[in-house]
Amino acid sequence: MKILVTGGLGYIGSHVVVELLNRNYDVLVIDNLSNSSLKVLDGIENICGKKPDFEKIDVRDKGELNDFFKRNQNVQGVIHFAASKAVGESVENPLLYYENNINALVYLLQELQDKEEAHLIFSSSCTVYGQADELPITESAPVKPAESPYGNTKQIGEEIIQDVCKVKPALKAIALRYFNPVGAHHTGHIGELPLGTPQNLVPYITQTAIGLREQLSVFGDDYPTRDGTAIRDYIHVMDLAAAHVVALERLMNKKSSSNFETFNIGTGTGSTVLEVVNAFESATGVDLNYKIVPRREGDVTAAYAHTERANKVLGWKAQYSLEDSLASAWQWEKNVRSKD
Ligand code: NAD
Ligand code: UD1
Repeated sequence: MKILVTGGLGYIGSHVVVELLNRNYDVLVIDNLSNSSLKVLDGIENICGKKPDFEKIDVRDKGELNDFFKRNQNVQGVIHFAASKAVGESVENPLLYYENNINALVYLLQELQDKEEAHLIFSSSCTVYGQADELPITESAPVKPAESPYGNTKQIGEEIIQDVCKVKPALKAIALRYFNPVGAHHTGHIGELPLGTPQNLVPYITQTAIGLREQLSVFGDDYPTRDGTAIRDYIHVMDLAAAHVVALERLMNKKSSSNFETFNIGTGTGSTVLEVVNAFESATGVDLNYKIVPRREGDVTAAYAHTERANKVLGWKAQYSLEDSLASAWQWEKNVRSKD
């Protein structure tokens, strides 16, 4: 079966490609390399003993995308990762985010909407819930006004897909709302490679531990939580990768209960920032230099997933612990820096 992965050389996409290749799917990757590199293909080959077919295509290039689908009429499923994802940058340059994340999705849907059968997995985010009124967060929690243009592209993206699914019953889609993806493949051959200073917690921790950053700033210890620091649900990227394959198979095996479904993909357990720091230290034996600083603007107090729907309906459950995730992130960081 041929599966197209857009943005398949990025952080999450590359782990999903590995999962698909290991399950013997025929994998086609398109990526414009705006936030990834061709070296990722070597990492994938090191793990799987084979590479996916790769074409450097920008999903916003309507002509090239159309040509790709003409040449690959037998694509049975599409997993769409290609998007820009830096929250701060989206506030600075909203149109870049609306242009990339929305146009790419619209052009992709234009290719899929008239097929006899089409199956689409969309990368959404727990950011659509904002600060939810109840924890853990279920899929029926209301979508809150987005904190950033990036977050808005996820909400709008889900709505666009839903609207198209209503009138094109041959198109079936699932939006996976990821909580906080962390970690790397255990071999350390692929992982997250943020450009410049990392904005997310785990890459900041590993870069501090390896000596690239002097000190981790813990943003706020005055939240109404057990130790005052904010709570998130950190999900191992390999668990996340498995969820994509399970979701795609649900569509291809005609198991979905409606044309458009959403699932939370998290562990169901919330960890505070200080708990993550401690777990990193105990998983790796490395002491972390950190200090408490004021809260970061726009951060919510706590977000963690209610996972019953993913567990029971999708048939997927997270397997890895937070320590596993952090140990794999550390392994990856060490591998990357040993090549610098
Ligand atoms: P990433 O930046 O590592 O991967 C995205 C890939 O898409 C990159 O390889 C990039 O080069 C490519 N790309 C971007 N725009 C493109 C375009 N127009 N045409 C072709 N390729 C393009 O990001 P990621 O962390 O792997 O995230 C993947 C998806 O998951 C994104 O949609 C992101 O918004 C979503 N998501 C990520 C997180 C997270 O914390 N990483 C959380 C929730 C949702
Ligand atoms: C971020 C994004 C969100 C995205 C999510 C998943 C923002 C505002 N939001 O959320 O849109 O869906 O990632 O990838 O960027 N922290 C520190 N020090 C740091 C970095 C982070 O203390 O140097 C804290 C944060 O305050 C937060 C937690 O660590 O409490 C996790 O932060 P981060 O990894 O950036 O993820 P989110 O804020 O959940």
